[in-house]
Amino acid sequence: MVSFAVRMKTFYATTPIYYVNDLPHIGHIYSTVVTDVITRFHRLIGDDTRFLTGTDEHGQNIEKAAAAQGMTPLELADRVVERYRELYKVFEIKNDDFIRTTEVRHRRGVEALIARIAAANDFYTAKHEGWYCSSCEAFYTEKELDADRNCPVHGIPTTWESEENVFFRLSKYAEPLLRHYQTNPTFVRPETRLAEVASFVRSGLNDLSVSRSKVKWGIPFPGHPGHVVYVWLDALANYITALGFGGEDDALYRRYWGESTGPRVHVIGKDILRFHAVYWPAFLMSAGLPLPTTVWAHGWWLRDAKKVSKSVGNIVRPDNLVADFGADALRYFLLREMAFGQDASFSDEAFLTRYNADLANDLGNTVSRVAALCRQSFGGTPNELCTDNEVMRAFGAAQEEWQAAMEDCQFNRALEAVWKLLAQINGYVVAKEPWKIRKSEGADAARLHRVLSAAAEGIRLSAVMLSPFVPSTSRKIFETFGMPGKDPDAADLAWGRLPVSRPMPDLPALFPRADAAEYFQDRKDVAMNEQAPAGSPSDDRISIDDFQKVRLRTAKIVAAERVPKSNKLVKLQVDLGGEQRQIVAGIAAQYEAEALVGRNVVVVANLKPAKLMGVESNGMVLAAAVGEAGAPVLIDVPADVPPGSKVK
Ligand code: MSP
Repeated sequence: MVSFAVRMKTFYATTPIYYVNDLPHIGHIYSTVVTDVITRFHRLIGDDTRFLTGTDEHGQNIEKAAAAQGMTPLELADRVVERYRELYKVFEIKNDDFIRTTEVRHRRGVEALIARIAAANDFYTAKHEGWYCSSCEAFYTEKELDADRNCPVHGIPTTWESEENVFFRLSKYAEPLLRHYQTNPTFVRPETRLAEVASFVRSGLNDLSVSRSKVKWGIPFPGHPGHVVYVWLDALANYITALGFGGEDDALYRRYWGESTGPRVHVIGKDILRFHAVYWPAFLMSAGLPLPTTVWAHGWWLRDAKKVSKSVGNIVRPDNLVADFGADALRYFLLREMAFGQDASFSDEAFLTRYNADLANDLGNTVSRVAALCRQSFGGTPNELCTDNEVMRAFGAAQEEWQAAMEDCQFNRALEAVWKLLAQINGYVVAKEPWKIRKSEGADAARLHRVLSAAAEGIRLSAVMLSPFVPSTSRKIFETFGMPGKDPDAADLAWGRLPVSRPMPDLPALFPRADAAEYFQDRKDVAMNEQAPAGSPSDDRISIDDFQKVRLRTAKIVAAERVPKSNKLVKLQVDLGGEQRQIVAGIAAQYEAEALVGRNVVVVANLKPAKLMGVESNGMVLAAAVGEAGAPVLIDVPADVPPGSKVK
């Protein structure tokens, strides 16, 4: 059995800081819940633990999103932060701090980091030219783009930008980084991702432009008036600025980072690995600061084989599931279903199956069965504790497996170990037939007390091991067996702490069974399914007759001008083959009005007229929504197709 004697090691874990141009969805929640599970585990085993999360509030994308909603960037950020805070309450996220990059403490820390990099002579100023993707806020080289010079991440057109920038000597750190990967094979996990990062570094690192003069919403770059700090240099620094780095009181920084010998773990999605495993350690090396010990890159939640994201339109917001099943059910599902590091698919069917099989049946029924046997036999917990039985031995093995899996972030395996123990407890009860003992020997029989105490103690310990995953359920289980409903500590992980002869309240079932058919019927119209892309089982399919009602026609754009005061809208005059009409399209951010004239496009010709910012629109121009931001890309029609042709 593993011993949990005092081990006051520090343990620091962080989530990515989330952009505030999107409301939280299941992907964001996942990173946060995982980090919460990790830190709850380390707190439970007695580590001096700190958990940081927060929001990334600067940059062009936020500036644009705020303008589109008629707000200042800070107003938008405040709104989204509020949403995160509400959700964190619902999900019982026990973070110690929440950093916002618009806070003064963050700006100070970023300035201090920049001062150290400057002192190492790792900045220089040069003209920066390249193909710029506004969604990535990053430059690309010609060879990284496709034939149409579209961004490799978002697929949207890049633009040639040229400005005087501050550069960071990233190239100087290629060798030190490779050495670091070699001597610290767990610097990036899973291992396959470390290989990916190393091969990227080996292919050659260009110096990195770390200031922007075109972007206004950011931290002013010290010594470079008119420039703001590149949003990734700004954002990555949060992991230390939140600890007080560069501030007057840097005690937390010293404890959890600067002088710490304990783990410093960044939990991130695989999409942002390069920033964390290449740029961030290079900045820290330059500044002469310690590096994180591990960057843990988890996979993506997919829906219908695509990454869950706003642009794909397959968002899973947690609200409905939480309202119907409670946050613990979703926490459990996220951790059980995804092998940490790999992608996993989200589906309502998989969620309901796990809910009924694992939570309602395996966990809920085992708890209520043993609790009912105790209550019916003794009106409370047994009057003695058995210290030699199969359950105790099964617990010893389960605890070792659980702990090893937890330390290694193999959450599904840790949960499997607990589920195995629950099955063993069930098997033990079935084999010992306590109902028969009660009948033949009476409720006072010592044997009955011993059998039920073994089962109940096994359940209590399962609840302790489950507490990082389903904290509220664990507390309810403790209450069921007459104990206070609080988060457990290391001492609670030892066999023998079930109170004896304690009254037990009769509490409602932990996870009432859900009828899947009924659930889907009830939920037909809720937002979760509203957004399901065509082709998924839960979409609203249309018949060919319905489709034929939509009149799609080719059209030639004959005039175009921006709609005043709008960043998005362009007023188009289109020729539909003899008929001219006015259509307003939301493509101003991607296309110059003048450049649209002469293009052949596809329009929906029989839409009822609508007014957009006071301008009448008679139809709709079709465009593909590309990349994270869903940027519109017009669907071009070859020049030899006459305007007004039917599209079918
Ligand atoms: N602001 C940057 C991170 C800066 S960290 C110094 C950013 N923000 S984000 O809002 O786009 O959130 C990114 C993180 O959310 C991903 O790295 C990942 O952790 C999580 N996820 C977003 N969508 C996801 C899925 N579909 N599946 C799993 N997690 C994903 O990037």
